[in-house]
Amino acid sequence: MRQRKPKNLQERLNIYRHLLVEEPESQKGEWRGLFRERFEARRGETPCRAAEAAPGETDMAPDFETGVCADRRGVDTCAFFEQDTKLFLELGTGKGRFITSKAEADRGSLFIGVEGRESVILRALEKAEGAQLANVLFSRYYVKNALNMFAAGELDGIYLNFSDPWPKDRHEARRLTFGGRLTEYEKILKPGGFLEFKTDNRDFFDYSYREIDAANFTVVEVSTCLQDSQLAARFTLTEYEERFIRWRRDIYFIRAIIEPQFCV
Ligand SMILES: C[S@@+](CC[C@H](N)C(=O)[O-])C[C@H]1O[C@@H](n2cnc3c(N)ncnc32)[C@H](O)[C@@H]1O
Repeated sequence: MRQRKPKNLQERLNIYRHLLVEEPESQKGEWRGLFRERFEARRGETPCRAAEAAPGETDMAPDFETGVCADRRGVDTCAFFEQDTKLFLELGTGKGRFITSKAEADRGSLFIGVEGRESVILRALEKAEGAQLANVLFSRYYVKNALNMFAAGELDGIYLNFSDPWPKDRHEARRLTFGGRLTEYEKILKPGGFLEFKTDNRDFFDYSYREIDAANFTVVEVSTCLQDSQLAARFTLTEYEERFIRWRRDIYFIRAIIEPQFCV
């Protein structure tokens, strides 16, 4: 069934523009810096002070009013947004339940949710705003080539949750686990970075397993019934996953890592 466009969509999206990234391709290689800029803008204070701190200065702990890294008091904002802060992407984030939960649970990392449909991403924005999170950003963007958005080795992990299976052979290249896509992910992930994939579709799972296994990833976890497993991935649900579990459908899962020698 076709979804109706919410009223005043553009105005409603504008309310959350501090969480939205309009031109994600211009952020290639700069995502951590963008999080820092957005964070500082929300705090409404002078940017990060670490560089100008006098020796022995003790007043370095920022007061994270917005909620980000509340458990990291004592760590200055510069350090938080340095290169070693982990950065994760959910491609096809839908209404944002998964990425918002991840960002809430791990305030010391940064999360990007990309979703091609703007009426859907509005829901994700409302959730993130409600949770007062500053370590998550969203982009309403239909990703055709992830290499245009991320630099080599920029990401620590990629989540593909209940991606469209595109069952017809002629649509194979649209599947987010198509070999050509996996080659893009290999490049934008750090050595040891991961790809996690969930689906309720057995054929799509079998296809994806073959593609991932044939690519330069090493499969480290697999489940054909994630909901009954003890794997950590079962504990953060997406909107689709919650519904499928209610309908007693099996959830298929793959976690794979990119081996260091294949990273560029
Ligand atoms: C079936 S929904 C799943 C949503 C969510 N991950 C969940 O599990 O609840 C798949 C979503 O991925 C989005 N999507 C598919 N391909 C995409 C792409 N290349 N770039 C951005 N979004 C995409 C679709 O618009 C759709 O909202």
